[in-house]
Amino acid sequence: MSDSYHVHETDSEESGAGDGETDAEGTGSAVDERIEDREDSSVTPSDDEDLTPSIQEVPDSRAVIRAEELSVHYGEEEALQPVTMGIPEREVTAIIGPSGCGKSTFLRCINRMNDMIDAARVEGSLRFRGKDVYDEDVDPVALRRRIGIVFQKPNPFPKSIRENVAYGLNIQGYDGDVDARVEEALRNAALWDEVKDQLDSSGLDLSGGQQQRLCIARAIAPDPEVVLMDEPASALDPVATAKVEDLIADLSEQYTVIIVTHNMQQAARISDKTAVFLTGGQLVEFGDTNRIFENPENQRVEDYITGKFG
Ligand SMILES: Nc1ncnc2c1ncn2[C@@H]1O[C@H](COP(=O)(O)OP(=O)(O)O)[C@@H](O)[C@H]1O
Ligand SMILES: [Mg+2]
Repeated sequence: MSDSYHVHETDSEESGAGDGETDAEGTGSAVDERIEDREDSSVTPSDDEDLTPSIQEVPDSRAVIRAEELSVHYGEEEALQPVTMGIPEREVTAIIGPSGCGKSTFLRCINRMNDMIDAARVEGSLRFRGKDVYDEDVDPVALRRRIGIVFQKPNPFPKSIRENVAYGLNIQGYDGDVDARVEEALRNAALWDEVKDQLDSSGLDLSGGQQQRLCIARAIAPDPEVVLMDEPASALDPVATAKVEDLIADLSEQYTVIIVTHNMQQAARISDKTAVFLTGGQLVEFGDTNRIFENPENQRVEDYITGKFG
């Protein structure tokens, strides 16, 4: 039962969750009080209670993505234990958990980015608007137009700002007004005012934070329905991070956003729903973000959120 705690070593790079003292304070006194209650009453949860995942149901009418017994192996290693959950439309869902717990693996299942990893074997089902994205007749390139992705490290192409944003439109043979779409995407990515006079200069000349917003503009220009983000702010300074966080909140008016972060404060600030994965690749709790941070049902989630490990 407790093996999973031992294999986890705190990675200094991921210390957003590693500083137990700070995190425990940051989560507020309600959690601290409940912890004291539990210690006072000297009730320890049974193993069963400890291991039972708590997954909020999302009705079909609201779920744009539904995983059912979705699991991933890399060779012999199980990176993601069977996950069953729905992801609600036009909300921000945060995926949190310690390093190596399968967050990126899960995210990559959604738009079939794991296809590019030879060792990866995906089982179970992942449905997008009712259709299993792993069905033989699904074209992964077409799928990725509807489910865009933004990575941790800003990765603009060595092309002009305009060409970066227009990239997906050109691939899909968009025959409308490309410049208008470029402008719209840059506006939605909160970058237009900063770059409107330099659209033909290289995307690589922008600052890191601007580059990441450029990548977000590139991801949303083809008008996807879902935007996946894998730690999109963890390579950015605090000011750029705040801009990207504001932007994510705005994006959820139009798109379903699924964001991986190991920064719990960030998840608490920007998401509507939170999914907590723990070591061993298990989805342990999923539900409304406020409820998860204030009153997690699962003891291991509480331990993680209050900084006892992670
Ligand atoms: N391309 C890969 N090949 C083999 N193993 C991998 C690969 N990517 C990830 N893994 C393994 O799968 C597990 C989950 O990794 P990952 O999804 O990257 O976790 P996270 O994003 O939560 O840090 C880890 O044990 C990791 O070493
Ligand atoms: Mg990752």
